[in-house]
Amino acid sequence: MSVLVTGGTGYIGSHTCVDFIEKGKEVIILDNLSNSKEEVVGFIEQITGIRPKFYNIDLLDREGVKRVFDENDIDTVIHFAGLKAVGESVAKPIEYYHNNITGTLNLIFEMRDHDCFKLVFSSSATVYGKPETVPIKEDFPLSTTNPYGTTKLYIERILTDLCVADDRFSVVLLRYFNPIGAHDSALIGDNPNGIPNNLMPYVTRVAKGTLPHLNVFGNDYDTCDGTGVRDFIHVLDLAAGHYAALKALEKSGVSIYNLGTGNGYSVLQLIDAFERVNNIKIPYQITDRRPGDIAECYADASKAERELGWKAVHTLDEMCASAWKFESSIK
Ligand SMILES: NC(=O)c1ccc[n+]([C@@H]2O[C@H](COP(=O)([O-])OP(=O)(O)OC[C@H]3O[C@@H](n4cnc5c(N)ncnc54)[C@H](O)[C@@H]3O)[C@@H](O)[C@H]2O)c1
Repeated sequence: MSVLVTGGTGYIGSHTCVDFIEKGKEVIILDNLSNSKEEVVGFIEQITGIRPKFYNIDLLDREGVKRVFDENDIDTVIHFAGLKAVGESVAKPIEYYHNNITGTLNLIFEMRDHDCFKLVFSSSATVYGKPETVPIKEDFPLSTTNPYGTTKLYIERILTDLCVADDRFSVVLLRYFNPIGAHDSALIGDNPNGIPNNLMPYVTRVAKGTLPHLNVFGNDYDTCDGTGVRDFIHVLDLAAGHYAALKALEKSGVSIYNLGTGNGYSVLQLIDAFERVNNIKIPYQITDRRPGDIAECYADASKAERELGWKAVHTLDEMCASAWKFESSIK
């Protein structure tokens, strides 16, 4: 039996493929390469010694998705594929709803038609909207502040309704906090096409000189130094969280877990750690707050530890060192 990883050439997906292959799983990747490159399949092979089967297929192409299930014996799907840029989702909401939601519907129709009922879905801490308190627990109220977040929330609801209607399905919703860092080999990491939307790839491109300076959005929040506080988690820990989540797929219905470290660091603390660990100055400018941003966002990750035996172990320094090692290795 194989595990299908949608979005498997992307940032989190590629690290998860490596982790699964190293733990003995047979992995098949489906990705349309809209935000990743096919060479990642070769990098996964270089790291693990095993080349996963790769399909360059769009989830919106239902016939293509059907072919992947027809040609393989898939019993579990790890579903990363989706568009994820918050700003772009405000400008192109229909494209985001279509890609993320229609893509997911095509996937679950084909799963059902092929007797495949186990799914892990990449959700996000963005579904907590503007939480009233931190740390954030899984049972906090849900809301969103942009179309990207709304696609995540809608997909969570669709999958929950599916599990109510059909008890053959088991679904795990993983709500990620802020993944950064890269594999120790520096072969795979966060390498988005175009100008990065997330903080760390922006920082590493400033460090490299590809971008002139970093914008820090607001220094007047009610936090330790006025800048936003986030729960940065090493992508290796996040990848391992998916393997741990397989345990929750043994029972039917929906299970929900936060994947974070439980610690918050401010943007300035992150810059400081990056400069210290890598001995590089990051020029930055304080600009206005970004609409929709919140002061503090970090997880209560105790449920995943209690029920899945999973806990993040990598430090902020390790995240900063590996992110720079990766960026500086890109030609
Ligand atoms: N990186 C983060 O900070 C973060 C935080 C929370 C949640 N997530 C979610 O985790 C998932 C993976 O994120 P990532 O950072 O690895 O992003 P990524 O862009 O690196 O990976 C997503 C992959 O999906 C592919 N893809 C997009 N639409 C597709 C489609 N219609 N058909 C086939 N492939 C498609 C892209 O080409 C890309 O390789 C996403 O669903 C994202 O929303 C990411």
